[in-house]
Amino acid sequence: MEYNLAAPCHFGLESVVKFELQRIGAKDINATDGRVTFCGDEQMIAKANIRLATAERVRIILLECYAESFSELIESLDEIPWEDYIGRDEAFQVKGSSLDSTLSSVPRLQATIKKSAVLRLCEKYGMTSCPETGAMHQIEFTIRKNAISVYLDTSGEGLHKRGYRRNSNAAPIKETLASGIIDLARIRKAGTVIDPFCGSGTILIESVFKVCNIAPGLNRRFAAERWGMFHPEIWQKEREAAKSEINKEADFKAFGFDNDPECVELTLQNSKIAGIINRVTVKNEDIKHFKQTDGVVITNPPYGERLLEIREAEKLYRVMGERFAADRDHPAFIISPHEEFEKFFGKKAIKKRKLYNGMMKCFLYMYY
Ligand SMILES: C[S@@+](CC[C@H](N)C(=O)[O-])C[C@H]1O[C@@H](n2cnc3c(N)ncnc32)[C@H](O)[C@@H]1O
Repeated sequence: MEYNLAAPCHFGLESVVKFELQRIGAKDINATDGRVTFCGDEQMIAKANIRLATAERVRIILLECYAESFSELIESLDEIPWEDYIGRDEAFQVKGSSLDSTLSSVPRLQATIKKSAVLRLCEKYGMTSCPETGAMHQIEFTIRKNAISVYLDTSGEGLHKRGYRRNSNAAPIKETLASGIIDLARIRKAGTVIDPFCGSGTILIESVFKVCNIAPGLNRRFAAERWGMFHPEIWQKEREAAKSEINKEADFKAFGFDNDPECVELTLQNSKIAGIINRVTVKNEDIKHFKQTDGVVITNPPYGERLLEIREAEKLYRVMGERFAADRDHPAFIISPHEEFEKFFGKKAIKKRKLYNGMMKCFLYMYY
């Protein structure tokens, strides 16, 4: 069976997610704001969950319609073949959000969608109520300017949860965003990545995953694997295929530095959990001693709002400007929400790309 699917992502990473989907053979790929839609069967759902490094989750699109009243919405919901997705005993819950729309009561929308599913399932399975004792199905909806999308989430925990980051320091970058930046820096082959503010090691670990072709979802489970409609052997096969494609021979190293010894320890621990400790070297060093001999710098320095005062962050950007060559031979990719980063760093970026870290507008300053 073919499904219409959607992979939500950080705003600014749509083209990167699109490229990942092309690489895994998805069909009818279409990128819009914060979301890439595509088509595929169960195998594609398994593959996308296991392999996508930059998307937030994989959802089945159940309905896309336009409604300004509950009766219009109910009429559209009646079209959803809920029994194709939810088994007789399986559980389901609804969550979502409404923005700039006539139908604005989220609790009422949740209840309406749940009721529509219950009525249809009771009729199809010949029951008077749904037992909901089986595997959970998370139904999600969004309403924006009266355009409604109803989804079934297949991922469970977000795809950024790779399983290696058991502990985190004060301000870790999201794994999916780190991976997207690594793609934008075109790190795909042999070489060296350096993060002079490595924190919990996310950028280093995601770089190794990318270059060694380690599927980020290899060591975790996904919600849809527990559903009666799907086949565990397909997911198993996809895991084995991904495992067999790991490039163990890649000539690649990742170097991290941080002035906080606890972060150095954290990076080592997380790299160990991720199974890539042999490729990571970490040192307790302040940025003022940093020197880039070769490799590519990818980093998210302290932001000001979250770790230091903005003035302190600006002082650090000046030090970075002194320590980074930031040229063709010493590329540097720096993510920061500071609109005037280049002024303090002392050099204009070749390219500046807008990216969202959650709700926070950031820029990837690209020097290469
Ligand atoms: C925004 S965090 C980096 C988070 C990291 N990307 C992650 O995912 O965990 C910034 C890091 O810079 C470190 N740091 C702050 N000032 C520093 C300095 N002067 N030299 C080196 N590291 C510094 C902090 O200890 C912190 O771990």
